[in-house]
Amino acid sequence: MKISLPGDKSISHRALMLAAIADGVSELRNLSRGVDVTSTRDCLAQCGIEFTDKKGVVLVNGQGGSFSQPSDDLDAGNSGTTARLLMGLLVGRGIKARLVGDVSLSRRPMARVVEPLRQLGAQMEISARQTLPVVIGPSQLGTLDYTMPMASAQVKSALLLAGLVSEGGVRVTEPVATRNHTELMLEALGVDIKVAGHEITIGAGVQGFNSFELDIPGDLSSAAFPAALATLVPDRDVTFPGLLLNPSRLGFFRALKRMGARVDWTVEKRVLGEEVGRLRVRSSTLKGITIRGDEIPTLIDEIPILAILACSAQGETVIWDAGELRLKECDRIKAIVENLRRMGARVQELSDGFRILGSSRLRGATITTHSDHRIAMAFTVAGKITREKTTIDDPDCVEISFPGYHKLISRIKA
Ligand code: S3P
Repeated sequence: MKISLPGDKSISHRALMLAAIADGVSELRNLSRGVDVTSTRDCLAQCGIEFTDKKGVVLVNGQGGSFSQPSDDLDAGNSGTTARLLMGLLVGRGIKARLVGDVSLSRRPMARVVEPLRQLGAQMEISARQTLPVVIGPSQLGTLDYTMPMASAQVKSALLLAGLVSEGGVRVTEPVATRNHTELMLEALGVDIKVAGHEITIGAGVQGFNSFELDIPGDLSSAAFPAALATLVPDRDVTFPGLLLNPSRLGFFRALKRMGARVDWTVEKRVLGEEVGRLRVRSSTLKGITIRGDEIPTLIDEIPILAILACSAQGETVIWDAGELRLKECDRIKAIVENLRRMGARVQELSDGFRILGSSRLRGATITTHSDHRIAMAFTVAGKITREKTTIDDPDCVEISFPGYHKLISRIKA
């Protein structure tokens, strides 16, 4: 079976934002159709960027870095990437904007972006709880040399985007490598950016670039869910052509291989700095593994589905160093543990991860997703291998990243 997936969510957000500040009209193909990416597009539209949809292509009329003053709040919805990256994109560009989000996003920490942006010279206000709403005021940006206390591609990307209009440049040092889409795209567009180990530097002064064309590669985080189901069900053989194969995002598939799965991938081309190719996965027998440290950011969004796989694997699977999971769309460690227990799994909650004893037969249950798309998608896969019925309390929340998910999953197992 062949499955072509809509464009990667992380790259779709960045493509829209970079196209908005480019000079001229950019053409984006295979943009993610998820609600999160639509939130980015809507916020940019409120800042005066025009979009045209033409036969599956989105044309973005880039304004060379100028934005018009939004007349209303910018609503990032459920999307942390929208909120955090927009803060970096909009500071220093002469407008005032107030960023808000839904209930889940309004609980997530924003000081991690606001603090370093203030150090760079941005005028910003943040709520007393250090969450949204955040207000950005017009300001001149100076220089920043910042060592990040946590592994976050969103924080890193916000600082790099702000660096594009900084007088003295921005240097960011990350504790552990995180997804590097912003760096790769900026470099491919001709921006003065240097990467040396965990240190990324954007040169001083205002930097612009021309519009671009981009065929967005398939979302490999979305691929993880049908791929996981294909390993669990007998006699499945699924290929994903045109998939993003960025090494900083491949952690799930590397872990799956270590678990003994029959999975392999081939890079076929590079698109705006990103490796793209095909990935094949077949039904497999799995064994438990330990995942920790530097590996965590490479599979951070795939940990819910790894937990489901761990239940069917032989032996124990342990995830450490994943405390960031508690700060996602919901506390994902808690959500994974509480729902797996309902399904009869043997699971122990750790402060920064969990331990799962495998070879359990999961039984049907009612799943509380906390309206978190990745919890809903992971437990939908679990529900496909239970004998009894599994009910997902909010199945539609998958629309955040993956419209059409349930239909696709039913193609692998009805
Ligand atoms: C993302 C980075 C990750 C990830 C999120 C998307 C991005 O968040 O969980 O889904 O596009 O930069 P953090 O960087 O906050 O870990």
